[in-house]
Amino acid sequence: MRYMGSSKQRVGFLLLLLLLIVIDCVSGVGVNWGTQATHPLPHSTVVRLLKDNGVDKVKLFDADSQTLKALGNSGIQVMAGIPNEMLSTLSTDVQAAENWVAKNVSAHLSSNAVDIRYVAVGNEPFLSTYNGTFIATTLPALQNIQAALIKAGLSTQVKVTVPLNADVYQSSTTSPSTGDFRSDIHDSMMEIVKFLSDNGAPFTVNIYPFISLYSDPNFPIDFAFFDDNYPSPINDNGRIYTNVFDANYDTLVWALQKNGYGNMTIIVGEIGWPTDGNINANSKNAQRFNQGFMSRINAGKGTPMRPGPMDTYLFSLIDEDAKSIQPGNFERHWGIFYFDGQPKYQLNRGSNGLVAAKDVHYLAKKWCVMAPSASLDGPQVAPSVSYACANADCTSLGYGTSCSNLDGIGNLSYAFNSYYQIHNQLDSACMFPNLSTTTTKDPSVGDCQFRIMIHTLATSAGGKRLVSIKKPVDLVVFVFTFVFTIL
Ligand SMILES: *[C@@H]1O[C@H](CO)[C@@H](O)[C@H](O)[C@H]1NC(C)=O
Ligand SMILES: *[C@@H]1O[C@H](CO)[C@@H](O)[C@H](O)[C@H]1NC(C)=O
Ligand SMILES: *[C@@H]1O[C@H](CO)[C@@H](O)[C@H](O)[C@H]1NC(C)=O
Ligand SMILES: *[C@@H]1O[C@H](CO)[C@@H](O)[C@H](O)[C@H]1NC(C)=O
Ligand SMILES: *[C@@H]1O[C@H](CO)[C@@H](O)[C@H](O)[C@H]1NC(C)=O
Repeated sequence: MRYMGSSKQRVGFLLLLLLLIVIDCVSGVGVNWGTQATHPLPHSTVVRLLKDNGVDKVKLFDADSQTLKALGNSGIQVMAGIPNEMLSTLSTDVQAAENWVAKNVSAHLSSNAVDIRYVAVGNEPFLSTYNGTFIATTLPALQNIQAALIKAGLSTQVKVTVPLNADVYQSSTTSPSTGDFRSDIHDSMMEIVKFLSDNGAPFTVNIYPFISLYSDPNFPIDFAFFDDNYPSPINDNGRIYTNVFDANYDTLVWALQKNGYGNMTIIVGEIGWPTDGNINANSKNAQRFNQGFMSRINAGKGTPMRPGPMDTYLFSLIDEDAKSIQPGNFERHWGIFYFDGQPKYQLNRGSNGLVAAKDVHYLAKKWCVMAPSASLDGPQVAPSVSYACANADCTSLGYGTSCSNLDGIGNLSYAFNSYYQIHNQLDSACMFPNLSTTTTKDPSVGDCQFRIMIHTLATSAGGKRLVSIKKPVDLVVFVFTFVFTIL
């Protein structure tokens, strides 16, 4: 009997272990938490949102101390970030690197119990739109941060990495096996890869099938998704590619392998799909893409070259209405949640769907719209709409967007309202000359939402301080150059 009992216990233990392993796989997808918003949710609300949705790792673009503090004792693993603008200083100034680690890593690990696992040095510093600005400073900054982590005794606990855009490598054919690092930056890439490898650090890459579609009108749309029903898959010496993500990821695997780093750990730092601002950016496509991706990750399924589980971070958690739209109007709509923490669509993580943010405090239910007496022909119309859009967010207007069905009056109202809400419903923000008026009737129609902003520290301090949405241009252009010549 005893023997039976202990055998049962053993089986029970093994089942528990199996369950834990399964749970671990299910919760394997992290998210990016960016903060370029005019009305960000309070940090604690976002951390609760992460926890309620079972997100166990988060990637940041800086090391903001309020953000990190809010993540303290949350059990959520953190990748903290160093913006590109700091690379130059950190590349030459060892003391600056030590200060960065002391203030932005050590302090949070010890006094706030923040589980920092990675430091991302720069963000897509080799992007071609930067014209090489950060190429010389990235490696020395990486080396100085790593040295500072070693000096602080943290180098086994906290790993460095550099999130790179997928155009640092390319393939001369459609086959991933012909992949290699881009020739113009090959030497710089090899130095970085060697340094990461020597220090047991991962390679981080951002991969964007949406951009493939956005930048190439002939791109076969089904190849962007994970439905496995793309009619003409790539056959790379017996490895079958039915989606561009796998093909892109394996192009990197081949590039690493060809240069002697076939075993290097890869993290997908950003992957996702926007929901507005472009004809292909909508909730339906975003759900199709993100659900397809998450289901694979949850099943522990990788690519033909790396079939096992993957380490990934969705881009992104929440919409950011102050991001530069230089890459495109979709840039402010990458969130799986709207700016206020409401889910845009359902996404099943294992068994549960998405849970909305709790305790969100909205401004009053009022909107700024075109006055009934106003005429669309007035000389003030064009300058007013330009002004409103330049200082607010009109990325939901235009061809193929959520508000593309509005008429001229609707367009004008949308622009006025966006300006009014972003400026915290100040009376002076709804005074477009003889054109605007406020209303308590929601002008939203269908998918076209005339949003009301939320209270922030600035609004609760009296609403006087206008929020500046002109943030420094932080280009997150996701250039994607998997050479695609099928068709
Ligand atoms: C810590 O990170 C913040 C946010 O990224 C940055 O502004 C600050 O300069 C960093 N501190 C140091 C000492 O480098
Ligand atoms: C890169 O070069 C182009 C063309 O010379 C210029 O328009 C752009 O502003 C430059 N970008 C940066 C980040 O220096
Ligand atoms: C990769 O790892 C395998 C198994 O650990 C090993 O046999 C192989 O030599 C490694 N390859 C490289 C390039 O390090
Ligand atoms: C509404 O605004 C968008 C974007 O500015 C423009 O493309 C569209 O033509 C406008 N529609 C009407 C009916 O004015
Ligand atoms: C607004 O309308 C009033 C009355 O119709 C007119 O006197 C005034 O000039 C208009 N103001 C502007 C800026 O168009």
